[in-house]
Amino acid sequence: MLRLTIPPGMPPAPPGNWLSGTASAFSRDPVAYINRYSPVYAPVWTMMARLRKVVLLNDPVWVKYVLAENNKNYTKSFGYDLLRPLLGNGLLTSEGEFWMSQRRLMQPAFHKQAILTFVEVMLEEGQRCAERFRQAADRGETLNISAEMSRVTMVIVSRCLLGMLVPGDLDRISASLELANRDANHRIQHPFALPMKVPTPGNLKVRRALAELDRTINGIIADRRRSGERGTDLLSMLLEARDADTGEAMSDRQLRDEIATIFIAGHETTANALSWTLYALATNPEVEQKLCSEIDAAGAGAADPAGLPYVRLVARESLRLYPPAWIVGREPIADDTIAGYTIPAGTSVLMPTVCIQRNPEFWPDPLAFKPERHEEERVKDLPKYAYFPFGGGPRICIGINFAWMELFLLLPLLMQGLRYRTVSNAAPALEHLITLHPRGGMMLKPERR
Ligand code: HEM
Repeated sequence: MLRLTIPPGMPPAPPGNWLSGTASAFSRDPVAYINRYSPVYAPVWTMMARLRKVVLLNDPVWVKYVLAENNKNYTKSFGYDLLRPLLGNGLLTSEGEFWMSQRRLMQPAFHKQAILTFVEVMLEEGQRCAERFRQAADRGETLNISAEMSRVTMVIVSRCLLGMLVPGDLDRISASLELANRDANHRIQHPFALPMKVPTPGNLKVRRALAELDRTINGIIADRRRSGERGTDLLSMLLEARDADTGEAMSDRQLRDEIATIFIAGHETTANALSWTLYALATNPEVEQKLCSEIDAAGAGAADPAGLPYVRLVARESLRLYPPAWIVGREPIADDTIAGYTIPAGTSVLMPTVCIQRNPEFWPDPLAFKPERHEEERVKDLPKYAYFPFGGGPRICIGINFAWMELFLLLPLLMQGLRYRTVSNAAPALEHLITLHPRGGMMLKPERR
């Protein structure tokens, strides 16, 4: 077997063939790949990934170093470039000064106080969804919970952050996003896929979806500009924003990118979190029982998450075991040193949240769903980045408060008078797309309880 040689000083590499290195094993099953090599090579090793230099960083201390302590020397990794056709230069994908000014501009819409204004919408949509589930339970239906959660979280994000959308817009955006998102996922897993500009039937379909997405979002922006209506939502904030130096308003193109970013980043992650939580409850009867007792004692429509401590622990445990953003990537701008090894500029540094959050050193019996392990007394001595479902440092998820609030509010509603049962004994396989998906969707049967 021909082997690639790694530049001197770089972290060691497991053996692999010269064409695919060990990248194909990683693409097939990243968790199995990391668990296989981590005992030998952790905290950091080089993954031979075709022509690209990639290192795996599987240690909370060094994750903290990259994301927070030395963040100024890092940009986002190449994986994020694949999202550019969809997200353009929005908050998730932009860099440097430009990113910072956009972040500053958007931050107020996500502050704890601002988020409180969204409670009503979240409760309303959660109740509507739970009612649909109760009707499905009466008909004995099995539901694709992933699709249901995707729908409800998308409605919430669009109502809260962009003002109300007419249902037709939502369906069109949803269909286009789905297609473009699948394409980005495909490109992450198949780095030799033909570039978008090559007019293959598949590429043409994605280009049409992106054009449709642009048309729809541009229509929303034009309507708002025309009507002059402003509220407290994010879109109003973006429309009112003026450049500190030039006094210019944000371009339509930039508005489109920020809106597409909020749509994608703000609904797929929470949808996944809710789907996996309902699955975890369906397969852990004791936890389900304890949670339902708390919810039932609080009474119908309990809207105060502070009064439901176990709901919080369940949500935290769900994001530990099934972190929707299962991996985070960065690239050093200048050569860096990690754990005594040289990390040349431009090397992708991948930090697998899902593996660190399942490391038995920090989380005993890591595959078990045990909400109690998040009680303050038990987590206070853990390294900070043993749990980082929202990333960290300056680029920590801007929607973190929004997401927690949504999970804390929706979970009790979805369990009110309901429980869920699996339809197969096999656990859903993890599909490591941009977010952590249950392969083939999450099929669950709601039942009245
Ligand atoms: C359970 C739900 C969520 C999870 C697990 C999650 C996770 C993450 C993570 C890990 C990052 C950092 C990525 C990196 O450093 O490379 C991130 C960034 C981001 N998230 Fe979230 N997210 C969630 C919900 C949301 C929501 C609800 C919104 C918006 C409404 C949102 C919007 C964003 C945006 C715009 C960024 C980019 C921030 C920046 O770079 O300044 N996310 N998210």
